[in-house]
Amino acid sequence: MHRVVPLRVHYYGTPVVLVSSTNPDGTTNLAPMSSAWWLGQNAMLGLGATSRTTQNLLRTREAVLNLVPATMVDHVDRLALLTGSPELSPHKRETGYRYEPRKFEAAGLTPEPSDLVAPHRVAECPIQLECRVSGDYEITSDSVHAHAIHVQVLRAHVADAVRLPGTDHVDPQAWDPLIMKFCDFFGQGQPLAPSRLAAGWQMPGRVVESASA
Ligand SMILES: Cc1cc2nc3c(=O)[nH]c(=O)nc-3n(C[C@H](O)[C@H](O)[C@H](O)COP(=O)(O)O)c2cc1C
Repeated sequence: MHRVVPLRVHYYGTPVVLVSSTNPDGTTNLAPMSSAWWLGQNAMLGLGATSRTTQNLLRTREAVLNLVPATMVDHVDRLALLTGSPELSPHKRETGYRYEPRKFEAAGLTPEPSDLVAPHRVAECPIQLECRVSGDYEITSDSVHAHAIHVQVLRAHVADAVRLPGTDHVDPQAWDPLIMKFCDFFGQGQPLAPSRLAAGWQMPGRVVESASA
């Protein structure tokens, strides 16, 4: 039997991307996101209007999309309630976010210069995509002020460990993406560590409940 349910969240399971972007002072900001979809050499990124990443992307028209493997769940979770923006929205303040200008250090990750764009790549991520911003669509509704930002992949860096030997293809068996399902982390279909985001959103995720039981 189905029930009519006023679902609060529609995050059914998407790979986590760490977006590198350039701050006004020239440093690289890093932010986890998962509202991304792909078409050819293009991606659409769903990003909140108040995030530093959105402002950086729209100002500089550049980004690096660092694809995150499930093994990096702890690094991502360390970034979960941080923003590179000195001004916090009321929603972020209530959720428990704080300003952090040094995201690489906070996450324990290594910056690596890019070839074609200013933001640094995340050395630990096996797939790093240097991108140009080519479009922007504003999304405004009762509960959301966001942007759908269109980026084009200019150059892809792929670690040998996830490349099909002798080819220009990612090996689907070697590549195990970190998945954000509702507000919890999964890898290979299995729940991973509890997420700080789920706690901030007060989500009744089973991962969180079993961790605190
Ligand atoms: C796993 C994960 C996925 C997230 N996905 C998104 C997303 O798709 N879109 C978004 O706007 N924020 C998303 N967030 C929240 C952002 O990381 C948050 O807004 C953060 O403040 C962005 O950092 P910034 O302000 O430095 O850009 C996600 C957070 C986590 C931990």
